Amino acid sequence: MDTDATGREGGVSQNLPRLVDPFERTIDYLRVSVTDRCDFRCVYCMSEHMTFLPKKELLTLEELDRLCSTFVSLGVKKLRITGGEPLVRREIMTFFEAMGRHLQTGALKELTLTTNGSQLRRFAKPLADVGVRRVNVSLDTLDEKKFADVTRWGRLAQVLDGIDAAQEAGLGVKINAVALKGFNDDEIHKMVEWCGARSMDLTFIEVMPMGELGEEEDRLDQYLSLKQVRAQLEQRWTLTDIPYRSGGPARYVEVAETGRMIGFITPLTHNFCESCNRVRLTCTGTLFMCLGQEDAADLRAPLRASQDDAGVIEAVRKAIARKPKGHDFDYSRREIQGQMSRHMSHTGG
Ligand code: 5AD
Ligand code: SF4
Repeated sequence: MDTDATGREGGVSQNLPRLVDPFERTIDYLRVSVTDRCDFRCVYCMSEHMTFLPKKELLTLEELDRLCSTFVSLGVKKLRITGGEPLVRREIMTFFEAMGRHLQTGALKELTLTTNGSQLRRFAKPLADVGVRRVNVSLDTLDEKKFADVTRWGRLAQVLDGIDAAQEAGLGVKINAVALKGFNDDEIHKMVEWCGARSMDLTFIEVMPMGELGEEEDRLDQYLSLKQVRAQLEQRWTLTDIPYRSGGPARYVEVAETGRMIGFITPLTHNFCESCNRVRLTCTGTLFMCLGQEDAADLRAPLRASQDDAGVIEAVRKAIARKPKGHDFDYSRREIQGQMSRHMSHTGG
């Protein structure tokens, strides 16, 4: 049999002990940012004039393949590809094809991505062909003008066409909407209706304190609690709490009138850390054990130091051993504590 020092066979090692953190949480979900770049400049995510990372800092597609395959060999069952906008990374399908092979062997159970939808017309079919079943599309408004305002560079029609393409390719689509006070709070019924009519689930996300976006986009001003969103929804829709969990922080309700789900992601007002099964890898090979904490492990150095994966595996295990119990976000005193200086486009949501 063709195996190397770490028991690799066909790209994935066999029978390595799973990743379990100090709080007995099995880490089987990896989110991977494959680029910090994006063709949009959403106001809560990026400044208008972003400086992006120099190319040599980025993991190559081959390195991403090697690193993600290592995580799969360590028991990761679900991979979510993020960015920036993952579909603007050049030759990204090469990477999706590589991960698709782990779906075929059964080592990986799910391969998904979070996208702004702008490139889906081109990529939906190839993604479906490698085994992607579902995509999350970020869409905060159905109003053309507002969409242009919030994304700065985006065109609503292009995203809607991308969503059409995804559905035509047989992909399940979930819409993620960041709830923003005075921006889309007047559209939530319309979005529920629209998603219901198109057989899509919808998740509302509270705006998070990420990056330094300057005073004009003060996130405390934009903050809209999902409690308010839910209360507003209940005036028109019959919502029933359901135990469905996606393995993440979202809580779900079912909408009787549409038969679809609505998720609520409330990282600031809810403590969801006890069931956290995930870690995040940046496009530079830095592993973040918790979205709300700065502690991180560099996996790029051990990856580049040797073709043998033993060093990377050791670095991953050491990192998981320090995964914290929870995060530090707290808006309750109307000031941002535990504010993160890194941008979402680096850690990939
Ligand atoms: N707060 C909440 N969500 C954010 N996203 C990006 N920046 C923020 C933020 N500051 C969301 C996008 C998308 C996902 C990738 O992350 O809207 O849904
Ligand atoms: Fe791009 Fe998503 Fe950030 Fe908007 S939120 S700028 S679409 S990465």
